Amino acid sequence: MESSAQPLAVEALSVRFGGLAALSDVSFTVEPGSLHALIGPNGAGKSTCLNVLSGVYAASAGSVRYGSHELTRLRPHRIAALGVARTFQNIALSPRVSVLDNLLVARHRLMRSGFLADGLKLPRARRERAEHEARVREIAELLGLTELERPVGTLSYGTRKRVELARALCAEPELLLLDEPVAGMVRDESAAMADAISRARAELGISVLLVEHDMTFVMGMADRVTVLDFGKRIADGTPATVQRDPDVLKAYLGAAA
Ligand SMILES: Nc1ncnc2c1ncn2[C@@H]1O[C@H](COP(=O)(O)OP(=O)(O)OP(=O)(O)O)[C@@H](O)[C@H]1O
Ligand SMILES: [Mg+2]
Repeated sequence: MESSAQPLAVEALSVRFGGLAALSDVSFTVEPGSLHALIGPNGAGKSTCLNVLSGVYAASAGSVRYGSHELTRLRPHRIAALGVARTFQNIALSPRVSVLDNLLVARHRLMRSGFLADGLKLPRARRERAEHEARVREIAELLGLTELERPVGTLSYGTRKRVELARALCAEPELLLLDEPVAGMVRDESAAMADAISRARAELGISVLLVEHDMTFVMGMADRVTVLDFGKRIADGTPATVQRDPDVLKAYLGAAA
């Protein structure tokens, strides 16, 4: 599918926490429709970067442009309204609530009737809810999710992570920010997640910015890779070039030593 997404241009981005430079002068561009990976050892600044892109953290300097919009001055809900969705490093779903209801919550941004009309079961609201539910079921199916009536807390870890991905997609984003989607997964779960992300890209034409430690996963999926170490960009290129880069090898071997 042709991508409707716009380029995301991160330029000279810096984030300071008191005396700590979590990001220093970082630049990269996520091309429309591409899967761009952001990698680096623990504490490199990857989650900080996603937090700035989604409006959770403020930038100390630099800019983030999504198409013609400057994101660094916008609050999280305004960034979401531009079509940028994210998942978190730790699962943030309501465990006692069904998969379906967790996914429907993500549609409220797109609903015209609002909570009150929906709660009162007015005919127009009922029709609108049925349309949203149909779309939610479509997205769930695309990601291989069945058993939508089950409480999220009763599902396996791998399935819950896919519910989280589905919830982000239910907001109909153009750009999806994923923070460690396969962390802690066994091989089958990780393969199911790779499949889910590939299907979402093919069907929905979205761009993806992916933070992940699992190198096999990253190198198999990414069009382009940016590498951070101690808040600085140390490499940017195709998976093949980045894997051979001496600075990248040093950063990873140094981290393992
Ligand atoms: N809210 C915060 N306040 C203070 N320091 C922070 C905050 N968030 C992150 N940091 C610090 O910024 C640095 C970068 O952290 P970040 O979480 O972005 O790393 P990361 O690359 O996502 O690491 P990991 O792979 O372990 O998830 C770390 O030194 C971290 O302790
Ligand atoms: Mg992180």
